[in-house]
Amino acid sequence: MCGIVGVLGTHEVAPTLVEALRRLEYRGYDSAGIATVNSGRLDRRRAVGKLHNLSDLLVHQPLPGKSGIGHTRWATHGAPTEANAHPHQAGPVAVVHNGIIENYRLLREELAEAGYSFATQTDTETVALLTQHHLSQGMAPEQAAYATLERLEGAFALVFLFEGEDDLMIAARKGSPLAVGHGEGEMYVGSDAIALAPLTDRITYLEEGDSAVLTRSSVRFRDAEGQQVAREAKRIRMDAARVDKSGYKHFMAKEIFEQPTVLADALRAYLSPEGIHLGADAGLAGVQRITMVACGTAFYACLTAKYWFERLARVPVEVDIASEFRYREPPIPEGTLAIFVSQSGETADTLAALRYCKGRAASILSVVNVAESSIARESDVALPIHAGAEIGVASTKAFTCQLNVLYLLALETARLRGEIDAEGISERLDALRSLPGLFNATLERDDRIADAALALSEARDVLFLGRGLMYPLALEGALKLKEISYIHAEAYASGELKHGPIALIDKTVPVVVMAPRDGLFDKTVSNMQEVIARGGQVLLITDAEGAREADGETWRTIVLPDVPEDLAPMLYALPAQLLAYHAAVAKGTDVDQPRNLAKSVTVE
Ligand code: AGP
Repeated sequence: MCGIVGVLGTHEVAPTLVEALRRLEYRGYDSAGIATVNSGRLDRRRAVGKLHNLSDLLVHQPLPGKSGIGHTRWATHGAPTEANAHPHQAGPVAVVHNGIIENYRLLREELAEAGYSFATQTDTETVALLTQHHLSQGMAPEQAAYATLERLEGAFALVFLFEGEDDLMIAARKGSPLAVGHGEGEMYVGSDAIALAPLTDRITYLEEGDSAVLTRSSVRFRDAEGQQVAREAKRIRMDAARVDKSGYKHFMAKEIFEQPTVLADALRAYLSPEGIHLGADAGLAGVQRITMVACGTAFYACLTAKYWFERLARVPVEVDIASEFRYREPPIPEGTLAIFVSQSGETADTLAALRYCKGRAASILSVVNVAESSIARESDVALPIHAGAEIGVASTKAFTCQLNVLYLLALETARLRGEIDAEGISERLDALRSLPGLFNATLERDDRIADAALALSEARDVLFLGRGLMYPLALEGALKLKEISYIHAEAYASGELKHGPIALIDKTVPVVVMAPRDGLFDKTVSNMQEVIARGGQVLLITDAEGAREADGETWRTIVLPDVPEDLAPMLYALPAQLLAYHAAVAKGTDVDQPRNLAKSVTVE
């Protein structure tokens, strides 16, 4: 996914563009660039790698102008080189693009036949060249841009800037998010409100298929059918767009350590002395079955929720990875509630899965962190997780906040189906209210976890094991470790060990076992002993009772506070996050912006 920004300003725009790109860098960081119109002349600066390379370039080669566009790239077509960096320019037009132009090869062939040559391997260059072609046929800029848009297939957010047009930008969205910011005598466009937060809190989100023609004093919207349409400007809560590390070395550390506060805020949003208030009819009454669809960490949140819905509410649940679900085209029986979980609310596969369920499922419910996102807007009901902006590419506070909302949904479903009485619900909610305090107590053990992580960071391969509610947590722990430390990590249900994975065990492969002293602990202890008997090094994450029972057998033990069994997944996520974080810091990887990754995958 890439970050896009455009500014029709009243001052030199380059610093504003760069600051906006800094706030978007979490979306992709293979290269960055800006283009401006200065006294009618269109020019650009681009640099490979992190944004500071572009900033350094601009110090030596300033780019004047009060109108400009900018881009930070996560490469899809073409290696991360300067030539492939956006903005792409063709004569009098420059464009920045997020997404994929699926018919770009056909367009390249047409352009080649028309005599155009190509400087890059990117799909975006065809957009600039096609627009240049339309201009060369005598079209005005707006007409040329729309003639190009009509030819494009795929998913894209695009912003056009034209030579000689100091007071014009044209923006379009089809599958990738784009927002217009309304300033005082200025106008902006960006991939999200975070990018525009220092400039304005008055935001209009483009709907699917929308386009916009912007000047400093006006914006004209057209819908997917090309009809003029009014779009409302909303005031965005500025704290939601705060993007700073608050003194931590990394965003990921800040977001791990703010989980007690953030969870407490989320509980205040959904709980009252009387009980659970979801703020909307989530379609839980009468639900016959549930299908849950997501990607990555959000998928593991769904896997966890499956245990809660089935055990507490007695509702059968199917959980799917979105990229498989959308092409398997599963039957959706009557009475199915479809739940989509997504931090960004823009993940392409999850959005496509949601669209498959429209008209088939009884109700579409999403659990998101970005209330104005595409997934939220296309749901019947969207429940915000109230995690605040999550900038670190590795999802942490969003995961525990997703689990919180999903647990509340399971409890509410159990209550509506008469599976748990009012007293039982009240007891569980009291336990949930105490969770932020247990989060704090766990985070106070950070030094011991960091010490274990240092040892873990020397491994080439790591295995995570868990049973029951701890199995999805083992999967999440493995994902966290591999995605930011680049150590190969896999997770298995503990009971699967003997069906193959135990062949991996020797003294070089640490095994992280996530096991509170619950009803499955004894079975997990047997698995641990099978590992230890083969020279395996077990890092046990458990509670005081579990530590006593496993005493002396393990390589290392991390002891967490006691927690009700149902709530263990939220608490045990914290050591998993910290193990990955400290291992990555020890290895010197780029914790907040790991190689090859982006915060939200808005392309297939
Ligand atoms: C999690 O640490 C990863 N960054 C990734 O798996 C992420 O959870 C996944 O891409 C889903 O993103 P979403 O929640 O924004 O849909």
